[in-house]
Amino acid sequence: MKNIAFYGGGNISQAVIEGLIFSGLSPKNIFFVDRNTKNQNKLKKLKVRSLKTNQKVKIDLFILAVKPKDAIEAYQEIITNFKNPKVACLVAGIKSKKYTNLDKEVEFLRAMPNTSSRFGLGITALYNSSFKKTNLLKVVALLKKIGIVIKVDKESKIDEFTGTIGSGPAYFFYLLQSYEKKLMNICNGDKKIVRAVMVNLIKGVGTSVENNGNLNDLIEAVKSKKGTTEAGLKSFQSNKLGISFEKGLNAAIKRSKEISNEF
Ligand SMILES: NC(=O)c1ccc[n+]([C@@H]2O[C@H](COP(=O)([O-])OP(=O)(O)OC[C@H]3O[C@@H](n4cnc5c(N)ncnc54)[C@H](OP(=O)(O)O)[C@@H]3O)[C@@H](O)[C@H]2O)c1
Repeated sequence: MKNIAFYGGGNISQAVIEGLIFSGLSPKNIFFVDRNTKNQNKLKKLKVRSLKTNQKVKIDLFILAVKPKDAIEAYQEIITNFKNPKVACLVAGIKSKKYTNLDKEVEFLRAMPNTSSRFGLGITALYNSSFKKTNLLKVVALLKKIGIVIKVDKESKIDEFTGTIGSGPAYFFYLLQSYEKKLMNICNGDKKIVRAVMVNLIKGVGTSVENNGNLNDLIEAVKSKKGTTEAGLKSFQSNKLGISFEKGLNAAIKRSKEISNEF
């Protein structure tokens, strides 16, 4: 895939573009279509180019990344203005059929990345609707430049992924707010130190999981009998934090499915 074009250049497109450039892709091969001046300016700073409908450049892949309310109209613009487009759609909610029914010839897939793609730490779920095998492999290779890619075999799993992993960073930020409160006091309000502490905490957790995937082992390694960790964990358990967290994940999955049925 030589040239790719982002149709809609907001939050998620900027994260993916930054990740792709960070991985070595040349900004010269990245194009965008966006009507929002603020986003246009941000994209120009990344040195990617605005794509005009009369431009004679061959786009190998369109990445559709507009809000669900704008998606069908934007998709129609792509299939009307560009010849034989291939489309990777990042839009939450709307099922493949809604797009593919408009033109059965278009190679189409859904991908659900998250904003950590910006640092090459993205997690992208992918559901293929109609991409041919060789082209699919090329899209997977492209997305692997910004993190890991999980292919799902049912489109409904994209909704589950959206609620758990797409929204996932926000849940960790939410938990970190409790740490931040405590740390501000411990570190005499020094925001820089508080931030550094939170970063190492999260990075350390990530590296531990990378080295040993057994979460019980990892908990046991921190816990000692009648110690502080045990007291904290016992309190979490008696307050049903685990159940409450799982309920939150289920609420997000439910909402993702509801959105999916709204379109
Ligand atoms: N943000 C995430 O973490 C994330 C993760 C995975 C998937 N997604 C999905 O990605 C999609 C985009 O999310 P986002 O947060 O990046 O949205 P966003 O920040 O609002 O970006 C969308 C951009 O597309 C522009 N746009 C809409 N229709 C257009 C059209 N027809 N022609 C040209 N530009 C157009 C919008 O302009 P206006 O502002 O003028 O409307 C806006 O600049 C959503 O469907 C979301 O479900 C988001």
